Amino acid sequence: MVLGQPIHRFEEVTSTNAVALDLYHEGASEGTLVVADAQTRGRGRLGREWISPSGVNLYCSYILRAGNREWISWIPLIASMAIASAIQTKTKLNARIKWPNDVLIGRQKVAGVLAETVSNNGEIQSVILGIGVNVNMSKASLPSSLYCTTTSLSEHVAESIDRNQFLTRLSGELNVQYQKFWNDGMSDIIHEYLSISDTIGRRVIAYLPVGGPVDGWADGIELDGSLRLRRGQGDMAIIRSADIVHLR
Ligand code: BTN
Repeated sequence: MVLGQPIHRFEEVTSTNAVALDLYHEGASEGTLVVADAQTRGRGRLGREWISPSGVNLYCSYILRAGNREWISWIPLIASMAIASAIQTKTKLNARIKWPNDVLIGRQKVAGVLAETVSNNGEIQSVILGIGVNVNMSKASLPSSLYCTTTSLSEHVAESIDRNQFLTRLSGELNVQYQKFWNDGMSDIIHEYLSISDTIGRRVIAYLPVGGPVDGWADGIELDGSLRLRRGQGDMAIIRSADIVHLR
């Protein structure tokens, strides 16, 4: 099995994750990749929209097999590592990861990951791994609410970047990480993730989906990919899902 084969290409879809899910139900094999030039209803984490203009960025989704829960929670983190490596190789830019899986150039987000599980009778059957990378998008086309927090690769390099070549590199990196994980388990991956994390060691605020914000020092990653925050007086908080703001 190779992640990224076969490839289904589309000019425009609602969301590549939605198309990959349909293909999964039609019997598509593990590794199948869906790529589109534009999305009309691109989905982001925590129910947000993913801005998906035509012809400039990368929007793609891979069909993956299911593993245990620990493994599934690492899929998006592994994907963010593969994106960061592909960026490093293709552009020499120093991409880093804001927990859990936002890829940053400097303080601005350049790529995101949305992993959605497919379940039957409570049992996870598959994971649809969606990846969006802002490749050649001009910042001028962004809504003002995203202008300060979002960037694209072409804002940092002299020429425009070939999206197909970038995708080939991304699939290559994803295959390396994926095989490493299945063969050797998590310990090496955690080590590597920590080395490109922009969050660990910083003071952060975690905005939880439910409940008030939690602040503390980002201290480490748990075996299931959760973020460990050190709070005052030796208290620890384990964050499973949140929007993180780096304070310094
Ligand atoms: C995030 O909020 O950071 C996740 C963004 C994920 C966007 C990608 S684009 C391809 C795939 N299809 C979608 O609808 N979303 C993901």
